[in-house]
Amino acid sequence: MSAAPGRFALYSRNTLKLGLFGANCSSGRAVTMVPERWSGSWPDCLRLARLADAVGIEFMLPVGRWKGYGGDTDYQGETLETVTWAAGLLAATQRMTVFGTVHAPLIHPVIAAKQFVTADHIGEGRFGLNVVCGWNEDEFDMFGAELRAHDARYEYAQEWLDAIKLAWSDAGEFDFPGQFIKLRQVRAKPKPFGGGRPIVMNAAVSAAGQAFAIRNCDALFSMTPRGKLDEFAAHVAKVKALARAGGRELDVYTVGVITCRPTTREAEEYYRHCVIDHADWAAVDRIMAMRGVTRQAFPDDFEQRRLHQANGMGGMPIVGDPDHVAHELAQLAAAGARGIALSFVNYLDELPFFAQEVLPRLSRLGLR
Ligand SMILES: Cc1cc2nc3c(=O)[nH]c(=O)nc-3n(C[C@H](O)[C@H](O)[C@H](O)COP(=O)(O)O)c2cc1C
Repeated sequence: MSAAPGRFALYSRNTLKLGLFGANCSSGRAVTMVPERWSGSWPDCLRLARLADAVGIEFMLPVGRWKGYGGDTDYQGETLETVTWAAGLLAATQRMTVFGTVHAPLIHPVIAAKQFVTADHIGEGRFGLNVVCGWNEDEFDMFGAELRAHDARYEYAQEWLDAIKLAWSDAGEFDFPGQFIKLRQVRAKPKPFGGGRPIVMNAAVSAAGQAFAIRNCDALFSMTPRGKLDEFAAHVAKVKALARAGGRELDVYTVGVITCRPTTREAEEYYRHCVIDHADWAAVDRIMAMRGVTRQAFPDDFEQRRLHQANGMGGMPIVGDPDHVAHELAQLAAAGARGIALSFVNYLDELPFFAQEVLPRLSRLGLR
């Protein structure tokens, strides 16, 4: 069972797909204290989705977060639950794909399958699923749930997604006698909108996680290592070849953090203002500690990593005038990125300039 072609292409013919990442969370992806930082509120999300849809942005990808990271701003402390958020935005838009980012171990697969189908009907086939297996232990404590040993998370997720795909399929009543998940006499109707199934992605880094993507997903989201486009290109070629060897197509998307202003100088000044002079360093350091990134473990580039975290949680920083930003996005596309999930300090304030100045440049480069 595959995603229908229109879904898979995110309903556009653009070579390079663009999305917005993290708008369902307070502060979005920028760990900053500047007062104009993103609210993550519903009215702002709704305005943003309508604007993004109108200018041809292909997708919105939320962050699945249950607990803020603390610091002075309680970074990402206010988050809208992603499937209900997606359902609301799908009802308010016409073209874009909206993902739900769902922690497989926390949501029962029969409930999850039906939630996704419901959102998919609301969006007439534009719902997408980002499968996450668990990253932050303190979130799981909130649920009284155990975060499994790393690779076992993906074994569980395999069963979870298999059960969901079965519920989406034309199979009638079914049993699912898994190792972790045991279901009996499941009836799941209706099916996803218009045949096929929602596009499925994940953003794994580990070997087990990427093997999961290669086996199951339509898209893998991978960070681009700083200054190492060659490494990214090799990674894209490798995972695509592995998927093809298994009879599947897999697209690789990446993550970019945009500071775009009329001049390079203005862009660099705003970047410095937000993510150096006014970063929420207490939150940054907490996030780094949770990931085991300490000065002792990374003596050579610890400060660089801190900066990178403050700017956009590890996404590729793209800072400059519209020519420069378009050029950098084109470089990522040339390295094999099928699309890029973008973030801004304030998405609503900054998207109009990006749409007006960068999108036409990407069109002239043959990417849009
Ligand atoms: C682009 C991107 C988006 C992600 N979104 C989330 C998320 O919303 N919630 C979450 O708990 N983890 C999220 N993750 C974490 C991944 O699902 C994954 O656990 C992490 O990259 C580590 O990979 P691994 O599980 O293979 O070790 C994201 C990672 C990336 C790179």
